[in-house]
Amino acid sequence: MQLLHYNNLFCWFWYIVIPCLGLQYLLLQVLWHTTRKTPAKIPAGNRGIPFIGETIHFMAAINSNKGFYDFIKIRRLKYGNCFKTNIFGQTHVFISSTEAAKKILRNETGNFTKRYIKSIAELVGDQSLLCASHHQHKLIRSHLSALFSRASLSSMVKQFDELTVNNLSTWHNKSSIIILHEALKITLEAICKMLMTLEEKKELEMLHKDVGLIYEAMLSFPLRLPWTRFYKGLQARKRIMILLDKIIEARRRSKEKCDDFLDHLLIKDGEKSIEEETQLRNQQIKDNILTMIIAGQDTTASAITWMIKYLDENPEALNQLRGEQQALQQKVSRKAHLTFEDLNCMPYASKVVKESLRMASIVPWFPRMALQDCQIEGFTIKKGWNINVDAKSIHFDQMIFQDPYKLIPSRFDDDSKPYSFLAFGMGGRTCLGLHLARAMMLVFVYRLTTSYRWKLLDSDESIEKWTLFSRLKSGYPVHVTGIDEEREFPNA
Ligand code: HEM
Ligand SMILES: *[C@@H]1O[C@H](CO)[C@@H](O)[C@H](O)[C@H]1NC(C)=O
Ligand SMILES: *[C@@H]1O[C@H](CO)[C@@H](O)[C@H](O)[C@H]1NC(C)=O
Ligand SMILES: *[C@@H]1O[C@H](CO)[C@@H](O)[C@H](O)[C@H]1NC(C)=O
Ligand SMILES: *[C@@H]1O[C@H](CO)[C@@H](O)[C@H](O)[C@H]1NC(C)=O
Repeated sequence: MQLLHYNNLFCWFWYIVIPCLGLQYLLLQVLWHTTRKTPAKIPAGNRGIPFIGETIHFMAAINSNKGFYDFIKIRRLKYGNCFKTNIFGQTHVFISSTEAAKKILRNETGNFTKRYIKSIAELVGDQSLLCASHHQHKLIRSHLSALFSRASLSSMVKQFDELTVNNLSTWHNKSSIIILHEALKITLEAICKMLMTLEEKKELEMLHKDVGLIYEAMLSFPLRLPWTRFYKGLQARKRIMILLDKIIEARRRSKEKCDDFLDHLLIKDGEKSIEEETQLRNQQIKDNILTMIIAGQDTTASAITWMIKYLDENPEALNQLRGEQQALQQKVSRKAHLTFEDLNCMPYASKVVKESLRMASIVPWFPRMALQDCQIEGFTIKKGWNINVDAKSIHFDQMIFQDPYKLIPSRFDDDSKPYSFLAFGMGGRTCLGLHLARAMMLVFVYRLTTSYRWKLLDSDESIEKWTLFSRLKSGYPVHVTGIDEEREFPNA
């Protein structure tokens, strides 16, 4: 009896409900086609199980030695240029075409805002340039970009060169050098000197450790329990804020002029200006000093490491680079240090830097959020969705860059397609430190290739887990021999 009842129900379902639904569907289709000429598609993709979505797959990718970009790469191969997924209960669309990049990054329609995951926003602070509201961002960015003038870049080049020369000179005595670790120390030291003339060994070491803890916390689940990465990151942030308070307090009292970023940002006691509202407040200064350390140290050090690796794998490029650098060395050898102008005499090295940045794609995608329902490339993007410009996929698109997996610096002899080279982003949120980052990479590779040859000690290609910017787990350990020693003992 029961069975029959169900059967009846099924019949009813099959003969009445389905045809009705079908008719409705047809009607909708007709309406749709008459109101819109091109039907917008919803991006393809697997949304996974409700609420959790594909969070578990994403976390697994973060915790794998292929790097978390693998999560994106797999889906991009499966679904194409534009796909969506669901992570931490939110819809994320990834898109990888130069046209979409242009539309989203230029933000001419004003439909896309910057969006960071909660854990990152809490770690860098809500006054940080990365997370500030549109209005605040304008004010802070104008203050900060004034600091990256030609004159200050010149003095930064000199400082960075001094640091690099000093440190590279001690490499003779070591049996193994881990490029990433050395680059991290040098870039931190250079950035801290530039920001606030911080040179104290003890404080630099503390910062090094604490900034490392913040990096590790950035991708973690924002859970405040004492044993979590996130909690440890927040504690590290607190310690850094105390140090910055101490430095700012001392600077306010001091009458001496210091030629660093902090001095330019502070209004000192006794020199209160009329336009005080347009000055930055203490918390804004502190959050943004931390932001510049976080945005500049790890990115630049990772980029240097990838560049050395790519050069090692491409002996022709390395030879040509060394040729250019040694010719320049003959010219500048009388001067103690490289100048900003010298960096303009390194056309090949500049292309090596650019090509390495393309291949490394240190910041693999740029997160934005749609403020309105809108359409991109024929895909519907709903208000509130996260839309990420997948720069790494664009950098490896073989329609744009031939043989994308090969280091070919000469590909930049000609101008590249607009919005195809996105290592530093584009539009109103372009990297503030791009000239500085390029300069640091050029100086480092100049000093390395003109002083040493190196031999790789561990060819493990695993990517470090839990890092925001992809870097080699091994850190690229090498053994170095001085180029001069070689001349003296040609058979060694
Ligand atoms: C090779 C090294 C570097 C790379 C690959 C890099 C890459 C980027 C990218 C792609 C963005 C934009 C992200 C987006 O649009 O969502 C960005 C923003 C930023 N970068 Fe860099 N960066 C590097 C070095 C530096 C350095 C050395 C500094 C400063 C000391 C710096 C400071 C900043 C700041 C402050 C922003 C935020 C700008 C804003 O939101 O208005 N970066 N960086
Ligand atoms: C784009 O423009 C809108 C409106 O002016 C603004 O609210 C938003 O913050 C902008 N996005 C970025 C990334 O600057
Ligand atoms: C490093 O080695 C050089 C010779 O290769 C030597 O002159 C110098 O004193 C050594 N420095 C240290 C700190 O051991
Ligand atoms: C640079 O070398 C000096 C020794 O000459 C060392 O004390 C310092 O820690 C090094 N700094 C970096 C950033 O490696
Ligand atoms: C952007 O938003 C406006 C409303 O602010 C909307 O009219 C427009 O269609 C949107 N742009 C696109 C490309 O969808």
